[in-house]
Amino acid sequence: VIIVLLGAPGAGKGTQGDFLIEKYNFTKLSTGDVLRSEIKLNTDLGNKVKEIMASGALVPEEVVNAIISTRLTADAINNGVILDGYPRNKAQLGFLLDHLRKLGMEKELLVLDISVEEDELAARLTGRRICKACGASYHVTFRPEQQSGICDRCGGEIIQRADDNIESVRNRLLVYRKETQPLLDEFASIGNLESISGMRSAEQVKAEIQKIIENKEEKSL
Ligand code: AP5
Repeated sequence: VIIVLLGAPGAGKGTQGDFLIEKYNFTKLSTGDVLRSEIKLNTDLGNKVKEIMASGALVPEEVVNAIISTRLTADAINNGVILDGYPRNKAQLGFLLDHLRKLGMEKELLVLDISVEEDELAARLTGRRICKACGASYHVTFRPEQQSGICDRCGGEIIQRADDNIESVRNRLLVYRKETQPLLDEFASIGNLESISGMRSAEQVKAEIQKIIENKEEKSL
């Protein structure tokens, strides 16, 4: 199966993706995580996308499509893969569908759209903190670390993401509305879209997603 986690910045795609990895042993392919690790390693690609990401704009097509074509393999899909943050516009959707067609795996697609109101998204993003070492995600109010500034999981330093300031957040939400939201109609017409309200606790969202996945598994048996 290939699960596309759709939803605005801050909707909880990363949080739910991590739950799915734990529960089903799926792998997660997050274009944002791949790009952030390139920035951290100071590679040419990292330097090319650093400013773009900090501003909240989308990085060029060819960069993210190359990430997908090398990492989204038939083996990964057979084991279960979660796509977090891709596709983000119509051109990327076209590329993904083409890629799956070539692999003969278009039927493996399940799209989960997590919807959250904009005020809540802004509060989640500006309050988010992450571990510099392992990437674990926290929130100053909703999910604080146990010891201030220190990651519960690995003891690493807790920092704020470069694009979690209010200006970049506004821009990310604009880009989402203009470029990514229109994909909902496209996925609905393909017939594999499930909509989930993200205006609940992360645990409640997780329970609903599990139900959807288990229903799909039962149907395909
Ligand atoms: P990316 O890394 O994909 O970020 P994003 O889409 O902006 O999404 P986020 O990671 O910010 O949010 P999320 O939905 O994962 O929420 P989370 O679970 O962390 O992209 C970053 C940038 O990379 C882009 O702007 C672009 O520049 C570039 N990029 C990436 N992919 C690209 C592509 N395909 N094409 C072009 N450019 C691309 O949750 C957020 C916070 O809320 C956390 O603190 C969490 O603890 C909390 N939270 C989660 N769920 C709940 C809940 N139910 N209740 C209360 N709090 C919650």
